[in-house]
Amino acid sequence: MKKRVLFVCLGNICRSPAAEGIFRQMLKSKNLHDKIAHDSAGTGGWHVGSPPDGRMTHHAKIRKYDLSDLRARKFDPSKDFDDFDLILTMDESNYQNVIDSTKNPAFHSKVRKMTSFCKIHSIAEVPDPYYKEEEGFEHVMDILEDACKQLILELESEMKKD
Ligand code: 4NP
Repeated sequence: MKKRVLFVCLGNICRSPAAEGIFRQMLKSKNLHDKIAHDSAGTGGWHVGSPPDGRMTHHAKIRKYDLSDLRARKFDPSKDFDDFDLILTMDESNYQNVIDSTKNPAFHSKVRKMTSFCKIHSIAEVPDPYYKEEEGFEHVMDILEDACKQLILELESEMKKD
């Protein structure tokens, strides 16, 4: 069965759409795009319906990732825990907010920190770049590329077992 991955940050205009943009392109380059579904969401609803932040779009585009079609939505615990197999949060606060939004322990095991997949970066969170300079956005891209690469390897190996 198709695996379904949801990336979650606070606003769904910087980190999680970048994660989705990187992830979907890496899937495509490995011809896995028909086997794994993806989406992104924010725990906050301020930017619902908006495209990703222009700075994030710019830094993604430098590395040939297109985020232009993505639109922000709010994480919905009443649907998203059922609709996704893996819910990957960007920082500690997103993680706690998602965990606290359900009492079902079966759902808790679907939630993981994005940085737990990193191989090159030894880091606990994908830092919020919203109030940072350009380097902050490049740093986010570096971490997310590292995590997405390993995430796909892990999913590939799980799918071989299924
Ligand atoms: P994101 O970044 O969670 O990576 O999308 C943020 C976007 C917007 C805000 C904070 C973080 N905000 O406060 O509006």
